[in-house]
Amino acid sequence: MRVKHLLHYLQSSSISNLNNFPSMDHNKNLLKSDTLHQYILQTSVYPREHEQLKELREETMKHKRKTLLGSISVPPEEGQLLSILLKLMNAKKTIEIGVFTGYSLLTTALALPANGKITAIDVEKSYFEIGLPYIRKAGV
Ligand SMILES: C[S@@+](CC[C@H](N)C(=O)[O-])C[C@H]1O[C@@H](n2cnc3c(N)ncnc32)[C@H](O)[C@@H]1O
Repeated sequence: MRVKHLLHYLQSSSISNLNNFPSMDHNKNLLKSDTLHQYILQTSVYPREHEQLKELREETMKHKRKTLLGSISVPPEEGQLLSILLKLMNAKKTIEIGVFTGYSLLTTALALPANGKITAIDVEKSYFEIGLPYIRKAGV
């Protein structure tokens, strides 16, 4: 279950333990049915995904082995929930700790108003550099 993995991740302070973070493996999310998960992605999530988020997600997947971290990006369905929550609360300033390649960062930037401000930090700049061209392309 995703929450269990998240708690495990939060309890570990070492970056080497990031391999234990839940991946996009379909059997590791709240929906236990791969078929249902795929159906939701194909019919609801992917059609609503911003073009540069899609590109960033696909680029991140290409680097899966190089980063040794597996796929630890926020998945697109969680990104869309994050976007809804940010808009509902009329968020203008956010802090993100742990950017990775920037999927949730770009999601947040797209959800904030034009005068919004994001402070984002990560211990590993090279991950962010993978996503940066797509963030720039999105014009946020
Ligand atoms: C689960 S990933 C973040 C996923 C990201 N939010 C996304 O949407 O793709 C965790 C990130 O936290 C970073 N990290 C780990 N320990 C950190 C620390 N002490 N301070 C800042 N970033 C840290 C890692 O380098 C990694 O990129």
